[in-house]
Amino acid sequence: MLRHLRRSDAAGFSGLLERHFPEENRLLGMRPAEFEHIVHRAFRWDFRLIVGLLRLFGRRIFELFVVEVDDHIAATAFVVYLPKAGYIGTVMVDDPYRRRGYAAKVVTACIENAGRAGRPYAILDVLTTNDPARRLYEKLGFRELQVGRFYVREMGPSDARFSAAPDGANIRAFHRRDAQELVRIAMGALRPDVAEVTPVEAGDFTSADFAAQVLLSETEAWVIGPPGRPRGFVRATASPAMAAANLTCPVLDPTVSEGDAQQLVERALGWVQARGAPRVVTEIKGAPPRAEATLRAAGFVPSIELRTLYRGTAG
Ligand SMILES: CC(C)(COP(=O)(O)OP(=O)(O)OC[C@H]1O[C@@H](n2cnc3c(N)ncnc32)[C@H](O)[C@@H]1OP(=O)(O)O)[C@@H](O)C(=O)NCCC(=O)NCCS
Repeated sequence: MLRHLRRSDAAGFSGLLERHFPEENRLLGMRPAEFEHIVHRAFRWDFRLIVGLLRLFGRRIFELFVVEVDDHIAATAFVVYLPKAGYIGTVMVDDPYRRRGYAAKVVTACIENAGRAGRPYAILDVLTTNDPARRLYEKLGFRELQVGRFYVREMGPSDARFSAAPDGANIRAFHRRDAQELVRIAMGALRPDVAEVTPVEAGDFTSADFAAQVLLSETEAWVIGPPGRPRGFVRATASPAMAAANLTCPVLDPTVSEGDAQQLVERALGWVQARGAPRVVTEIKGAPPRAEATLRAAGFVPSIELRTLYRGTAG
């Protein structure tokens, strides 16, 4: 039976995640008990009310499906509604239920729902080394959009300098009115086919607070440049569900000096250090050479490679 995730599924769902995403869990340092607590909390009445109201106004945020077999969660997948695409994630099938078509079933449900929600595309990320999943998606008609990679930076005692990092003259806190200009800079760096499927929108910069509230995480963002005329952006997030903190891939206008770019990233690393995270993870897609060089210079090293795949939701 295909249905939505329920509050009572939290423990089973978290257990499946722990067993079936070992590489990502090692990288991110997943904390199952905290994760389970967050899933429970996401079913709280006030969050349900907001999600319900948004749906009433035609704005769907996400759906999480499970396939239940004999009172057991056999398969799961979520779909998050981005402007042009349904982003599909946590596709997993528990061992005893594999090769029975459950993954195909739950992914197809996500694609169909994305289509019904008016999204012309479905997209997802898969590790390059994950042959079974790549075969599954190929069979379902997905094609490659771009290659990405996680970058990791271990935080250590020698990083004490970050805690004293001053407010650089050019670095300041992000403000909502910076969003439009950042959209322009970020879109300018995308290949046209990538921009068609995953366009950047103001909400990518401004809506992190609601997500952080649901996920019980802390988040903060910084920019380079005067108010309303930002030239660079980065956001850091720390969640109790994971040991590793997250940095967004820095958005950098070509006019930004390498010194300013470094200060921006160091500012975020200082914030991460103050929260005691042992590691920071960021994901770079489509290999923008500028951001990659800046992250490497700040001590990040390449880790797992992944591929973003896409297909149309019609037919
Ligand atoms: C990948 C995964 C979701 C597949 O689940 P599944 O229910 O076994 O997949 P399905 O039965 O729906 O398979 C549909 C098709 O995918 C392909 N496929 C699935 N598993 C495969 C495997 N181990 N080897 C080769 N092809 C495979 C086949 O083409 C299959 O069709 P067929 O059985 O008629 O040959 C499952 O192995 C899993 O949970 N893995 C761990 C978590 C994970 O990696 N998730 C993907 C994250 S992107």
